[in-house]
Amino acid sequence: MADKSWELCLTVCLACLLAVHADIKAFTQVGQLFVHELKRETFQGDFEPFLKHYGRVYDDPMVFKCNKQYFPDLPHWLRFTQRHPMDNGFLYGTPLEEDQGKNVIEITVINKRSYDTFRDRMVITVGPPGKKMPYQAEFYIPLREIEKVLSSDVQDDIKNDIQKMWGATHRLTFVNISSAIERGGRVPLPLPGHYEGVYVKLGSEQPFSDCLLRTERPEHRQQCRATEKASTSCTVCSDPSNCITWCNTTLIDLSKPPPPPPAPTRGSEILEAQGFYDPPESPPTHDYLPAYIGMVIVPLVLIVLLCAVLAYVMCCRREGVDKRDAKTADIQLYHHRTIHSDSDELRGMADSRHASRPQSTLPMFNARTGERMPALQRQFHADSPHIPLIMAQQDPNTDIPSR
Ligand SMILES: *[C@@H]1O[C@H](CO)[C@@H](O)[C@H](O)[C@H]1NC(C)=O
Ligand SMILES: *[C@@H]1O[C@H](CO)[C@@H](O)[C@H](O)[C@H]1NC(C)=O
Repeated sequence: MADKSWELCLTVCLACLLAVHADIKAFTQVGQLFVHELKRETFQGDFEPFLKHYGRVYDDPMVFKCNKQYFPDLPHWLRFTQRHPMDNGFLYGTPLEEDQGKNVIEITVINKRSYDTFRDRMVITVGPPGKKMPYQAEFYIPLREIEKVLSSDVQDDIKNDIQKMWGATHRLTFVNISSAIERGGRVPLPLPGHYEGVYVKLGSEQPFSDCLLRTERPEHRQQCRATEKASTSCTVCSDPSNCITWCNTTLIDLSKPPPPPPAPTRGSEILEAQGFYDPPESPPTHDYLPAYIGMVIVPLVLIVLLCAVLAYVMCCRREGVDKRDAKTADIQLYHHRTIHSDSDELRGMADSRHASRPQSTLPMFNARTGERMPALQRQFHADSPHIPLIMAQQDPNTDIPSR
């Protein structure tokens, strides 16, 4: 247990030491290609500093994220590429005059096995332009990918081949390397033998060879346009993947001052010196009244008319509705009054029930004679099965014995 904590303490201390890791320093000059390879193996040691002591070394997939310090992206002249987490990354680009000075780049490394991250800083100092390279040429290498060309040994191979074509006694210098995709090229099929293609631009202070100057001839251009292949090619390639496409070679001669922009051509409408300017007639005034009437007055009149009709319907026709309302209100009042008086009468009758019930409501009451049957007889008759249902329809003297 104590052993473990001691080990942990050592790891933390090592991590602290690594946190004050020195910045990566690089120097480049304006107009020259800068390439820095971010090697996975160097960062591997930063992720597992203590594993080395046990002789165990991982080969982890890693992803790099690069940005200018305190900014989300890289400076405009610098580009980053990494094909696969198992490959190394490359920072490359050609700084221009205005990019001189210190460029602080933050590099975040993500270990794709442990998902640890590690941050490093890189300071690229861009110095003033070095030697002049008035003669520059751009070549297209179709069977390459940008990452392959950026590695220094392939760069050297390409440089040696082109040096032979150039007939250069001095070393050529890389000015730019860019993927054909950045120039509007197509993304290749993910199959072996398909590459995106790379443009390389090299510069020298030595003029072009006769061989290279052949690409400038009109017959060469015509031939290229017709067949995309030139017979007069003097390409040299030690490695078949480094072979250039002769027809896509461009020579850039910066030794002569750039031609002045063509003088502006005079148009036909330029005023003669001391001439009199006669302004053209102003167009005839246009009468907008009919249009105004058609577009504003007529719709307004229509709106006013419609409003008037609506107002008449809403206000004047309402009176009739009122009269009818009054009549129905009268009928309702009448009903109410009759119901009221009827219920009063009923209530009065209910009050006087104890005194004597109205004779018409009494049982066995003869409506014609006003005679009432005695309760006992009533009882008897009520029990008798011969009792008529409606007494009023029968002669009481025949049925009922009088007392
Ligand atoms: C290098 O090539 C890239 C891509 O075509 C381009 O954007 C950049 O301006 C070039 N840089 C120089 C200095 O020519
Ligand atoms: C090569 O040059 C030809 C003609 O000059 C052009 O049509 C073609 O697009 C170029 N290829 C690339 C990959 O730039």
